[in-house]
Order: sequence, then C-alpha cells, then structure tokens
Amino acid sequence: MMASSALIVDGSLKEGGGQILRIATALSCLCKKPITVNNIRANRSKPGLRPQHLSGVQLVSRVCGGALKGDAVGSSEITFTPGTIAAGRYTADTGTAGSVVLLMQVSFPCLLYASGDTHVTLKGGTNAEMAPQIDYMNMVFQPIAHKFGIDYDCRIVRRGYFPKGGGEIQVTAKPVHDLSPISLTEVGTITRVRGRAFVAGTLPRKLSQIMSNTASSVIKKAYPGVDVQVESVQEPHGAAFGNGSGIIVVAETSTGCRLAGSSLGKRGKQAEDVGREAADELLKNLQHGGCVDEYLQDQLIIFMALAKGQSRVRTGPITQHTETAIHIAELLTEAKFSISPLTDGSGEGANMIECTGIGLPNKQLT
Ligand SMILES: *[C@@H]1O[C@H](CO)[C@@H](O)[C@H](O)[C@H]1NC(C)=O
Ligand SMILES: *[C@@H]1O[C@H](CO)[C@@H](O)[C@H](O)[C@H]1NC(C)=O
Repeated sequence: MMASSALIVDGSLKEGGGQILRIATALSCLCKKPITVNNIRANRSKPGLRPQHLSGVQLVSRVCGGALKGDAVGSSEITFTPGTIAAGRYTADTGTAGSVVLLMQVSFPCLLYASGDTHVTLKGGTNAEMAPQIDYMNMVFQPIAHKFGIDYDCRIVRRGYFPKGGGEIQVTAKPVHDLSPISLTEVGTITRVRGRAFVAGTLPRKLSQIMSNTASSVIKKAYPGVDVQVESVQEPHGAAFGNGSGIIVVAETSTGCRLAGSSLGKRGKQAEDVGREAADELLKNLQHGGCVDEYLQDQLIIFMALAKGQSRVRTGPITQHTETAIHIAELLTEAKFSISPLTDGSGEGANMIECTGIGLPNKQLT
C-alpha cells in the first residue's frame, strides 16, 4: 500500500554498506518519508542485512511505531514506513559482537525528536572492528554533538568484544526543539592528548602498558611540547565480557576540536603495533589541518542536514562514507551541501563542507 509511494534508495551506491541503511532509515523516520532500500550491501562478501543492521532498523521502527517489510537476516530489500517518534525506553541487541555504536548511530538522531527523554539500552560489541569504539563516541562525538545543541548521556554498563559481544550501553537523550548549525573552521593548536589503552578478560595487563607507552612516545616525538597522557586500564571483572584489547588517543585543540586515532588488538598482532597504529592514525588526522578526523566527518552530515541554517566544517580529504551520507541526506531532505577544496596551503587535502540545513522542528515540543 504505502510501499508504492516509498522513495527508492539504492543500497549498493558509493560506500554501499550498512551506512546507507542507517542514514536512510534515520532520515525516513525523521522526515516521515517511507523508503525502500534495495541492493542492500549488494557488493559485500556476505550481502544483505546482517544481524546488527537488522536490529538497528527494527529499533528505529519501534521508536516511531513504524512498519517494516523484508526485515530478515540476509534480506536485500526492506521497506520502512515510519510512524510518530515516541519517548520512552527501548532495547536493542545485535546478538553478536556487532557494534552498539552502529545501533546508536541509526537511532540517536530520531531520539532527539521525541516529546521527552528517551532511554535506549544497546547490547553487542562496545569495542568492535568496523565501527568507532564506544570511547570514541564519548571522547570525540559527544563534545562536538553538544555544539549542535545535543544533550545526552551515555553510560557503559559492560564492555563486550569480538567474537561474543555481550556488552551493554545505556543512552539517555534529551529532546531538542531544533538543532543549531555548527561552525568548525579553525583547528587551533593542540592543547593536550588524552587516551585510553585497555585489556579485558584473560589478556595480560602488560599489553595495555605497551600500547599506551608506544602510542605516547610516537605522539610526543611528533609534538614535543604537548601534554600526552594515555591511561593504561585493565577492565574490572564484571565490567567487561570476554577478551579484548585496544587503544584510543584523542587530541584536543584550543578551538574545541577533537581528533582521534584508534586500534584494536587481535591474535598475532603485537601490542606495540596496536599502539603505533593508533598514534599514526591520529598524526595523519592532525596533518591535514581539518577540524574533524576521518570518522567524525561522515557522522556529522545528518545533523548538519537537520540543523537550522548554515553549517561549515573544515575537513581533511573527503571520505567515501561522507560522500554517501551527503548523497542520502540530499535525497531524503531539502538540505544542500557543497564541498570546496581549500588551497590556503594550511594542510594536505583540506576541504570545507558547507551545508544549508532544513531546520527540522520537533513538533512534539511546544
Ligand atoms: C554493486 O551492486 C550493484 C547491484 O547488484 C551493481 O549494479 C553494481 O555494478 C555493483 N557495483 C560495484 C562497484 O561492484
Ligand atoms: C577468553 O579467553 C580464555 C582463555 O583463552 C577462554 O577460555 C575464554 O573462553 C575466553 N572468553 C570469551 C568470552 O571468549
């Protein structure tokens, strides 16, 4: 019935992964436009919906009392007919080590447009491959989200890792009237670097110290005057399920920017290499002179599209995730984006992303 009028989104375009599905589902819910996403992850080795994509889409559908067709693992096409976003308590579980951060990404924009506080319990991997670590969300995403006027709390109840997951976070979001545009155009100077190296389960404590020490020395060598502190943590028993290790390092700047590098340990990978990889990623993100790192870039697009007025963000090289996010945002909303390469010599491959957002009002708040 409604399906005939649904907007068609090609899930295999550009980046062609779960990201298209997440942004399209969130914007469909927010703009009350039914969508059909086809060719879902068509060019991936295991095409179609994976458990974590499915639980994310189902979560959004529950949050807004919507209807889904084709919502099964392996499905290559879903149709989503959104309803009205309702405040309250929701739970979603990837049932695997699939990332809770991806569950958060698909649902979070919708929670902001409820009539009151909304509380979601998300279960799965907290520090998982192919997704930002939960610490990234708390150390980088949250302070930048605040600039849009977004206020939320994220509590890590229990960490969970590949392959079993078993982690849990609780996110409580406050509704917004509308989102403010952001201006992140000057990276400023680095004021400090903070980080966290962890081991959990049966892995030796020593590994977190090696990751921490290696990352710190690489960063200090590149930025000798800067205060660098990377804590070395053994996750307390009961606060983590399974065995895992990894690290995140975050540079904070005088203009309030946050840029990160991160890495996860795995069997056969030396702790030194994990620490060095995170530090090198951070250094790479500091060299382009942009205000956001490669992972924040695409995450900001949906909020820029929804915000009321002109946002400007200085970035490094544009990622395919960002191009995909912009494509979907322009398909589902009237937001207009433009990307201009910056030739002021301040960094390799710097760009300015500008967006005139639609100023979506929260009609449930008076
Ligand atoms: C991706 O999959 C679609 C649909 O099956 C196909 O038309 C397209 O050519 C593929 N693109 C790439 C880059 O493989
Ligand atoms: C953690 O590692 C230990 C020892 O290698 C193993 O016995 C245990 O099953 C692992 N735990 C999980 C949840 O994978």
